[in-house]
Amino acid sequence: MTQDEMKKAAAAAALEYVESGMVIGIGTGSTANHFIDLLAEVKHKIDATVASSVVSADRLEAHGIKVLDLNDAGTLSLYVDGADESNKALHLIKGGGGALTREKIVAAASEKFVCIADESKLVDTLGKFPLPVEVIPMAQAYIAREIIKMGGKPVLREGFTTDNGNIIIDVHDMEIIDAIKMEADFNKLAGVVTVGLFASRPADVLILGTPNGAVTV
Ligand code: 5RP
Repeated sequence: MTQDEMKKAAAAAALEYVESGMVIGIGTGSTANHFIDLLAEVKHKIDATVASSVVSADRLEAHGIKVLDLNDAGTLSLYVDGADESNKALHLIKGGGGALTREKIVAAASEKFVCIADESKLVDTLGKFPLPVEVIPMAQAYIAREIIKMGGKPVLREGFTTDNGNIIIDVHDMEIIDAIKMEADFNKLAGVVTVGLFASRPADVLILGTPNGAVTV
């Protein structure tokens, strides 16, 4: 099975969490795209969705699936999204696609967060995947200096602007032992919009695509 087929297997397994009348939060990325395409087959079951990015909203609407503004949706029953890394506590690194801020907002507004990924995303220690940080542009140099003090190597994501008009700094070479503390430390820095650590609000369920099908962690 290819990595993409494993992503699709995880996405298909997440359909089991979809119930009649739900408004569902939808993530961003290739695994979330599989979920969107599969959701289209059962779209009559759900009320609507809330998207975590413009690109996911466009894909949902292309399938004829209703997309609401989060402000009009109230608390969401379910959020389904991919991840760049997960540890066994279901603390995640997200933001490889740059949608981390809206993803974190939609995850926070959801009762259940089902994370879908291929098995390569499960790691013992977070941090091999560069940690994305969304930053207000004028704070770029300041935040880069703070990241160096924290022991990381800041790399600007060249030519990329988030849906919110900000930049992404990817933090390399940071071994993340205490993800909850590190998330809080980044959140204290003026100019940081969002850090791609999802630890204070981790996933509730992790579905991994494996060569033998989907496995729930
Ligand atoms: C986007 C994300 C994605 O969930 C993450 O990058 C995983 O992507 P993919 O499903 O393509 O492997 O956080 O901001």
